[in-house]
Amino acid sequence: MTSELADSPFLRACQRQAVPYTPVWYMRQAGRSLPEYRAVREGVPMLTACTRPDMVVEITMQPVRRYSVDAAIFFSDIVVPLRAIGVDLDIKPGVGPVVAAPIRDAADVRRLRPIEPGDVPYITEAIGALVKELGATPLIGFAGGPFTLASYLIEGGPSKNHERTKAMMYGEPELWNSLMDRLTDITLEWLRIQVGAGASAIQLFDSWVGAVAPEDYRTYVLPHSRRVFEGLADLDVPRIHFGVGTGELLRLMGEAGADVVGVDWRVSLDEAARRVDPGKALQGNLDPAVLFAPWEVVERRARDVLARGRTAEGHVFNLGHGVLPNTDPDQLTRLTEFVHEHSAR
Ligand code: CP3
Repeated sequence: MTSELADSPFLRACQRQAVPYTPVWYMRQAGRSLPEYRAVREGVPMLTACTRPDMVVEITMQPVRRYSVDAAIFFSDIVVPLRAIGVDLDIKPGVGPVVAAPIRDAADVRRLRPIEPGDVPYITEAIGALVKELGATPLIGFAGGPFTLASYLIEGGPSKNHERTKAMMYGEPELWNSLMDRLTDITLEWLRIQVGAGASAIQLFDSWVGAVAPEDYRTYVLPHSRRVFEGLADLDVPRIHFGVGTGELLRLMGEAGADVVGVDWRVSLDEAARRVDPGKALQGNLDPAVLFAPWEVVERRARDVLARGRTAEGHVFNLGHGVLPNTDPDQLTRLTEFVHEHSAR
């Protein structure tokens, strides 16, 4: 890693070091809100795009060019490693990941084989090219959290109540743990491949884990997420842990071993700072829907997020969840400028 990259505001903030201004990036910063994204994706299915290094590089770079954000996030999807080991799934536009044969029993679990670098040569190639092009701008690699991946595999698609997932978790804990063990191995290797290729931070998106109560999280999820973070400790890159609706889980998510805890918009950052143990930076947390309000409102809300973020040991500005598809990109250009200027004062 070059010293310029190591000194980037994003990596410094993740490590709770002093920064010249608050770094900012946006979850789902690449995607349908950008006309240039819609243009390159025209006629190319999502999962095909994820296996084409030229497209991955171009789409990852689009928001960096447009917004001057302080980090890039690798363009892929949480289900790409599952597809790479042969799970029959697709990403349906407007729906999300859909699995042809949902996991029901131990034989289904055994079919989830480990992932190897040779399964995803396009990942190593795309990240290598991106790291060159990005220079001093960090690249964030990512994976889905084990609970979120398990939910897609068990439900067969997006789910509101995660009832089959929870039925297995509560009713067949051994089967559940064997599934989570395999997903953890896959996730760990998938993240190590990305860091090995040059990603300088990682984020674990356990997006739907907010559906689980704290005591159940501690029993059924935390041991697996902890194994992911511990398995990355020797790589010396900041590890971010994010979920939606996780106000009651923030401390436990920090305990799983993340350096940075991502916060959605339902809990203010000063309250989040009280909920997590010392030694963590926070990331977040402007409500992505605020971007649909007039600029004056966005500015007032962003100012508030920055003020509350100052109570944390380190703060990376982000939205409280991904950029919504109908967002006006000009609002994000303005927001990035505002965060940089306002926090530098
Ligand atoms: O943040 C980024 O810019 C990087 C790209 C990224 C994508 N998916 C691209 C994508 C990331 C980090 C993800 C992670 C992801 N995928 C998560 C965790 C983050 C979160 O939002 O909580 C989840 C739950 C998924 C599963 C998934 N994949 C969903 C729910 C969807 C949206 C379905 C839809 O059409 O509304 C996808 C598809 C997807 N992944 C798209 C993109 C840009 C849209 C595909 C398209 O353009 O048609």
